[in-house]
Amino acid sequence: MSDSVSILTVCGSLRAASFNRQLEEALPSFASDSFLFTRFDALDAIPPYNEDERAEGFPKPVEMLRGRLLEADAVIFVTPEYNHSVPGVLKNAIDWASRPPDQPFANKPVSIMTSSLSPFGGIRCQPHLRLILETLDARVVTSPEVAVPGIHSFSDGSRLNLPDFVVRILRGHMAALGDMVERFRD
Ligand code: FNR
Repeated sequence: MSDSVSILTVCGSLRAASFNRQLEEALPSFASDSFLFTRFDALDAIPPYNEDERAEGFPKPVEMLRGRLLEADAVIFVTPEYNHSVPGVLKNAIDWASRPPDQPFANKPVSIMTSSLSPFGGIRCQPHLRLILETLDARVVTSPEVAVPGIHSFSDGSRLNLPDFVVRILRGHMAALGDMVERFRD
């Protein structure tokens, strides 16, 4: 791939020591140099969705998220699963961002990555998040799935040292995301 690819990453955990944020921060090392990463880290500033508020205009943090989503060539969600599904703060942000005009997920290449302390790596959240994103006409990368089990065992508290099998999957997934961007570039 010759052109640069702008990637917006969004972490579904607000926890200061989030393992998913550590994974989000590690992503550039598994991607081509042509991928330019920026993080959206203001999920906690997004208020609970309220249609009455939207009628008066998007709150500033939502406006910011929508702008960043529209600009990006692709979006990567890195998230824990909460009760086998999507954390409420992440669903709330997607609900806000999805409202018209200019629905920012339409035809957007999107990746879903999960991690968990459990042996299942948060995989049960993935079909739920995929359904939401496909409802919004996003182009979700389906393979290889990134669901990192026992994530805490790879962390020193602030950074991850991931084993080869996870690194291979991450590199494969990033390549698949790059292919998806090529297919859907205007
Ligand atoms: C969890 N956790 C969790 N883990 C899991 O593997 N499956 C699950 O269904 C749930 N459910 C769940 C619900 C709620 C409300 C919380 C707060 C936590 C545990 C979760 O994976 C763990 O706290 C991770 O460390 C969260 O990710 P971060 O914050 O480290 O990125």
